[in-house]
Amino acid sequence: MPLKRKSGRAIEQLETELLLLALREGYGYDFSGYARASLIRRLRQLVDFFAVDSLADLVPALLRDERVAQAVINYVSVPVSEFFRDPSVWQYVRQRVMPELESFPRINVWQIGCGHGQETWSVAILLHECGLAHRVRMVTTDISADLLASARRGRWPAQEFDAWRANYLAAGGSALFNDYFEASGNGGEIAIRADRLPAIEFVEHNLVTDDAFLETQFVICRNVLIYFGDALQARALGVFERSLERGGFLLLGHCETIPDGEGTWAAVQPELRVFRRTMARTT
Ligand SMILES: C[S@@+](CC[C@H](N)C(=O)[O-])C[C@H]1O[C@@H](n2cnc3c(N)ncnc32)[C@H](O)[C@@H]1O
Repeated sequence: MPLKRKSGRAIEQLETELLLLALREGYGYDFSGYARASLIRRLRQLVDFFAVDSLADLVPALLRDERVAQAVINYVSVPVSEFFRDPSVWQYVRQRVMPELESFPRINVWQIGCGHGQETWSVAILLHECGLAHRVRMVTTDISADLLASARRGRWPAQEFDAWRANYLAAGGSALFNDYFEASGNGGEIAIRADRLPAIEFVEHNLVTDDAFLETQFVICRNVLIYFGDALQARALGVFERSLERGGFLLLGHCETIPDGEGTWAAVQPELRVFRRTMARTT
């Protein structure tokens, strides 16, 4: 009997599974719980990026060369960001969340998904301007070692600067935004002046497999859950719940929320995705 080949779509699905299996078994990165449609869209772009005929062609290179694996992980990570992205959110954080944080005996801030660091350094600027720099321990985490290194370096193309300053002003900033940066790379880049800001720890952490590691008062996880399927989102919320002290704040991204009926969270400002941990810990 002649063999019957699967459809092109079914083959692509099989190839995707192979690639995900190689990432999981070869390197411990499990993307199987990510929202499938957008994951497949991003994986498809890898075929052009690596100039291969199919995703399956990438698997041997990925297994043998960790630089290929890291490049794939970076591709899946979508590190799009801005300083003070969604200014009204940061205005609220400045005016309402920071004063509440001040009342805690200690202030641990955990910012998750640092991308190239724009959000990380935005939070550091806010902590500095709200007078909390000397009391805060700030940790930023990401799945990608490359992105953590980039965020720590804190350098970006200078052409982004005007848009980020506009965000800063719209978010209630009143200092000279320029003072937080210096020119770098023959003027083609700007670099953060970290010496003016609270120290930040940059740590590898994967929301898929790792647990909470801090007694936190403020968790910022914006535009990360959007890439997760439902089960993974629920897992991440469990991590935040275990991490946050009672009364601590959780800030999610514009398209992310907590499902109704999750009794341990109060929606403090639901439109801006600001939540507060209310109940005593269950675990
Ligand atoms: C779109 S960026 C968001 C950057 C920033 N939070 C913002 O909103 O501007 C998504 C970030 O989440 C990180 N990420 C993706 N999956 C992750 C995971 N499983 N654990 C931790 N970080 C993850 C990516 O590497 C990337 O830096």
